[in-house]
Amino acid sequence: MEVIIQPTADEAAHLAARVIAHEVRSRPNSVLGLATGRTMEAIYARLTEMHRNEGLSFARCHTFNLDEFIGLPPDHPGSYRKVMTDRFFSHVDIPADHIHFLNGQAADLTAECEAYEAAIRLCGGIHLQLLGIGRDGHIGFNEPLSALQSRTREKALTPATRRQNAFLFGGRWEAVPARALTMGVGTILESRRCLLVATGEEKAYILAQAVEGPITAWVTASALQLHPRCTVIVDEAAAEQLRGKDYYRWIFENEPEWAPFR
Ligand code: F6R
Repeated sequence: MEVIIQPTADEAAHLAARVIAHEVRSRPNSVLGLATGRTMEAIYARLTEMHRNEGLSFARCHTFNLDEFIGLPPDHPGSYRKVMTDRFFSHVDIPADHIHFLNGQAADLTAECEAYEAAIRLCGGIHLQLLGIGRDGHIGFNEPLSALQSRTREKALTPATRRQNAFLFGGRWEAVPARALTMGVGTILESRRCLLVATGEEKAYILAQAVEGPITAWVTASALQLHPRCTVIVDEAAAEQLRGKDYYRWIFENEPEWAPFR
């Protein structure tokens, strides 16, 4: 795992977008795992700009979103599919049949999750998995005590996660569905590369637990410590409680791999 600290949330988002763009340019048929949420908005806005102004094309990419609420129609303003369509997919050149989403209205949710895992395998696996972190330490909707080898499945959401998503439901946390489908921690760990982005002081405590604390199902993001290629991009506010800040900064300034991004 490596941690890159940027001065502001915007700069963290821009760096994350550059890492994704670099992946897509060097492998135009990349399979991207995508996340939703506030942290991601500036990343998708920057990728959209790069598509418009710098010729970045997603035409040969496939995408798999991490999670979706159960029971919402795809055009519901709170559905992650709708959020992704409005904020990203409708602004870039990715073909509709390359966009993969869990269907939270499927009659058989277990079969839906198995089919999603099969579709990921059929595409050859995920090259780059973009992740945010919940205040309870979740990645995807893998809430505390999710098995660290879990696969795509149904999950009950914590009240904290429902509150965090209330902004998509007119500010009413009770309106946020109590259950969701999510890729499992084990599914996420199979991606060839993980890119976790966290910004803002409200993420500082849980980020330090995930990066520098013990690997525990209580903080599912801590499982990323097991991943052979995980990059964590944060702003100063989210980095506040990290013990290894000086070392992380040295790595970013000195490792040749990061030279094109400095
Ligand atoms: C959503 C997802 C979640 C979010 C996390 C952070 O697809 O995967 O794990 O990334 O809840 O959300 P924000 O960015 O809104 O704080």
